Amino acid sequence: MNDPAVQIRCATSQDLPAIERVTAEVFQPVALESLVEQTLGKSDGPGWLSLKMAVTANEITNLPDGCFVAFQDSGVTGFVTNVIFPMARRGYISSLAVRAGFQGRGVGRALVNRSLDYFRSRGLKQAKIDTLVTNQAGRHLYPAMGFQEATQVIHYVMPL
Ligand SMILES: CC(C)(COP(=O)(O)OP(=O)(O)OC[C@H]1O[C@@H](n2cnc3c(N)ncnc32)[C@H](O)[C@@H]1OP(=O)(O)O)[C@@H](O)C(=O)NCCC(=O)NCCS
Repeated sequence: MNDPAVQIRCATSQDLPAIERVTAEVFQPVALESLVEQTLGKSDGPGWLSLKMAVTANEITNLPDGCFVAFQDSGVTGFVTNVIFPMARRGYISSLAVRAGFQGRGVGRALVNRSLDYFRSRGLKQAKIDTLVTNQAGRHLYPAMGFQEATQVIHYVMPL
């Protein structure tokens, strides 16, 4: 990471308001729930941000030593949440985001590296991460870090 002022620590439930602010700021164009909402219109249930935050909160609860925030004096600048699939001996990087004004300084790469180190410390043998075909940052960063493309998926949705 280029900026020594940025540090990484485990995420806790107390970080959720800051994580929600980061999510609201940068995830709308690339969050699956947001794209479903754009496709079908708003449902009468919670919006994309609440749905995504419910998943994020669960992930931090389920893996408290394996989800991380990047922070500096100004507060949380990014986060990553992870899920472990023990049967496949695989770690899954579920959600990764860096505040717009802090992107391009190596924070995203550092959060992924911290996750990979965590997976290794748990004895896992594989790591997985998804990105949209339209996500230029993800499509650059993940292959550059050693991830190989396994497949592409189309998400179909319909109203009931
Ligand atoms: C993806 C994301 C977390 C990367 O965070 P970051 O802190 O900017 O990442 P880094 O600074 O470590 O840089 C990552 C690499 O991506 C490149 N990159 C960043 N934005 C890019 C873009 N729009 N197009 C192409 N490459 C891009 C950087 O140049 C850098 O490459 P390099 O190290 O070879 O120079 C951040 O862009 C983000 O929060 N995006 C919105 C949410 C999102 O897309 N999350 C991931 C979902 S899969």
